[in-house]
Amino acid sequence: MKKIAVITSGGDAPGMNAAIRAVTLKALHEGCQVFGVKKGYQGLITGEIVELTSFAVSEILHRGGTILFSTRCPEFKTEEGMKKAKKQLERLGIDGLVVIGGDGSFRGAMDLSKMGFAVVGIPATIDNDIGGTELSLGFDTAVNTALDAINKIRDTAISHERVYVIEVMGRNAEFIALYAGLAGAADAILIPEVEPDLDEVVFRVKNATAKGRGHSIVVVAEGLFGNPMSGRNTAESSAFKVGNYVMEKTGKDTRITILGHLQRGGSPSATDRILGTRFGAKAVEQLLSGDTEKMLGWNKNEITVAPLQEGIGKRNVLDLSLLSLADLLAVT
Ligand code: ADP
Ligand code: F6P
Repeated sequence: MKKIAVITSGGDAPGMNAAIRAVTLKALHEGCQVFGVKKGYQGLITGEIVELTSFAVSEILHRGGTILFSTRCPEFKTEEGMKKAKKQLERLGIDGLVVIGGDGSFRGAMDLSKMGFAVVGIPATIDNDIGGTELSLGFDTAVNTALDAINKIRDTAISHERVYVIEVMGRNAEFIALYAGLAGAADAILIPEVEPDLDEVVFRVKNATAKGRGHSIVVVAEGLFGNPMSGRNTAESSAFKVGNYVMEKTGKDTRITILGHLQRGGSPSATDRILGTRFGAKAVEQLLSGDTEKMLGWNKNEITVAPLQEGIGKRNVLDLSLLSLADLLAVT
């Protein structure tokens, strides 16, 4: 294999650049020519494919987002779109593709694999919901970003003795809410996995007040009521529903903060830089060994290799005992 391409697709995630850099440098080291597909599968269809040199990937390790841009591209799901993509890959003689993205991107990768292209998937999404890996690229940074915001909100919540309902991203997944809520000592964490008990939230807010603490922090997953509004700040957002109920029942001054897309950006944490770097290098090794139609994962402190199907058919499962622990500490 002499020509390898790398693509970022779906929602961007901090650490994607680390993976792009590692793919490029490792593949160049192995004597390959490396290409970057711009704008996700849309760029594969339109042929926005550029050669990547070591210079092109210098000074990107610390940057959030993806230098290759990313899109959601419905056309790629069609037969016509796939044909166009195939043509572009054949035009440049690309034999192997590293797909950095979530389960949707992996579905696209699977289609390419069925058409005869060698593919390896790198799981990347702040939602951390991809099957086959305990950790997806970007999750660690997003949790720390959400935590930083919770810490800052806590300062003003304490000063004004208010209730803050903070909505975090995750689409239908609950990882950011649980991890940031646990790390941020939230009084209540509401996630889609568990039927929301708003009266219990009211009880905890009143309980905190009765014990002499005027403020409360409630962390809500955006997908709590099944319809994530993706930080679009509408009255339909989960946080508004929870916040309005709590305000009405407690009579306490309540503020709502939707963290939204700020959780998708920012300089990647050391964990995401190292994970992206290791994923990138391993993806090239997989392509060169010919062991493809695989996804990489991080499981039990090791880089793992599994069938691409794992990332599509399964979902990363949350350890609900963490929620029980958070609840126990919150009511004691
Ligand atoms: P993520 O990869 O983060 O899950 P999306 O679900 O938006 O993000 O998927 C990213 C892109 O992958 C889509 O815009 C589309 O181009 C491609 N894709 C998604 N689902 C499929 C599918 N079933 N078949 C082929 N391509 C798909
Ligand atoms: O999948 C990542 C994610 O940030 C979700 O947490 C969120 O629901 C969604 O993407 C937002 O999508 P968009 O950027 O298209 O609004």
